[in-house]
Amino acid sequence: MSKTVQLIIDENTYDLPVVEGSENEKAIDISKLRAQTGYVTLDTGYKNTGATTSGITFLDGEKGILRYRGYPIEQLAEKADFLEVCFLLIYGELPSKTEFDLFKDNITKHTLVHEDMRTFLEAYPTKAHPMGILSASLCTLSTFYPESHDANRSKEAVDLTIFRLLAKLPTLAAWAYQNAVGHPVMYPKNKYNYCENFLQMMFAMPAFEYETDPVIVNALNKLLILHADHEQNCSASTVRIVGSSQANLYASISAGVSALWGPLHGGANQAVIEMLETIMNDGGGLKRWIDKAKDKNDSFRLMGFGHRVYKNFDPRAKIIKKAADDVLEKLGIVDPVLDIAKELEEVALNDDYFKSRGLYPNVDFYSGIIYRALGIPTEMFTVMFAMGRLPGWIAQWKEMMEDNQPIGRPRQIYTGHNERDYQNIDKR
Ligand code: CMC
Repeated sequence: MSKTVQLIIDENTYDLPVVEGSENEKAIDISKLRAQTGYVTLDTGYKNTGATTSGITFLDGEKGILRYRGYPIEQLAEKADFLEVCFLLIYGELPSKTEFDLFKDNITKHTLVHEDMRTFLEAYPTKAHPMGILSASLCTLSTFYPESHDANRSKEAVDLTIFRLLAKLPTLAAWAYQNAVGHPVMYPKNKYNYCENFLQMMFAMPAFEYETDPVIVNALNKLLILHADHEQNCSASTVRIVGSSQANLYASISAGVSALWGPLHGGANQAVIEMLETIMNDGGGLKRWIDKAKDKNDSFRLMGFGHRVYKNFDPRAKIIKKAADDVLEKLGIVDPVLDIAKELEEVALNDDYFKSRGLYPNVDFYSGIIYRALGIPTEMFTVMFAMGRLPGWIAQWKEMMEDNQPIGRPRQIYTGHNERDYQNIDKR
């Protein structure tokens, strides 16, 4: 017999089913609670609410474990190709050689973006943030593929949209950057792999060739893998909830990009570097900034510190910190911002305020330092995160659709006025 827990409200006892996950995570199924008791649950920010069951990513915030489809993030970051990880997340298993060749081929074929997209790009102000352009461009893409709007699409049609998204996002991202700096856009070239192609479109110019450095390509591959999925975070939940209305996949991913942009989520990687630069330029030492972060009357937070689910350490930050050291050493870069970052980490990790709240450096704390070393401009950092997160968003959307989940529609507890009568304006 399946397990239940008992809920006692006044003199009534209700049996609520318990759902157990494959890693022994336990949830109380309250889906019939309102019908049985008249109560709903209240959990702002969903701090304690499981929105779905999912077989994609497992993480244990206390132990610092992160696995995609069962594979430890450490192994994937060390050994895998980003596109292999895309396949794994989206289709559930690592690809065979034949499957992988076909998958890569399908993505390579679709890297070109419709020429009319350039008209939209050119209309943005020069100072437009690339995340705004990326989100809008992804939604605009849907207008080129009206057949993708059909809620009863076939598996082949869904796959085609998946290939197009994975193929075109790096092109759109690089074009958003080239447009912002007033350079001509560079077209994708089929002879390059996924990471090389992106770097070419970012840094090559009609006047000169760009030599891709394997150190940079490897670092980018690793960063994309580390960002590829993170279960029910703000942007993945956004993609699921938008997709649950049967909105098309382009529109759902575009919404995910917008959710990621915020500084409490993916936008933190840009905010971290800006914060470290401010601290460096201030020159007054770290204490003032640590005190500001601890002051409840000051809105300043240490960007890149803390995480909703990791209360011990973020396994991605551990890998990225080492990768940052390697990249800087191999490229012979001395970055004073890295010294500030290390000093800040040291001070914060020994401070009771941060220790008692489980605030540790997260993935964004060190990723910006690698992006800087790779020559990626600060405003593009969150775009890099979006490129990495794309397969995760797609996998979350696909799982939700295949599970036939209902439209996402939370309840609320109304705290406004009780009924009152309308008064004409001269009586108010
Ligand atoms: N600096 C100073 N204090 C902090 C910080 C911080 N970065 N983060 C949390 N706190 C404090 C917060 O004031 C609260 O203190 P108290 O209990 O005294 O009220 C306590 O720690 C718990 O914070 P919370 O805001 O309730 O925690 P949360 O789970 O709602 O927020 C977070 C998680 C990531 C939004 C938050 O830690 C934060 O704002 N960090 C800085 C932004 C950042 O680095 N975001 C990137 C997250 S990792 C990338 C991703 O996956 O999106």
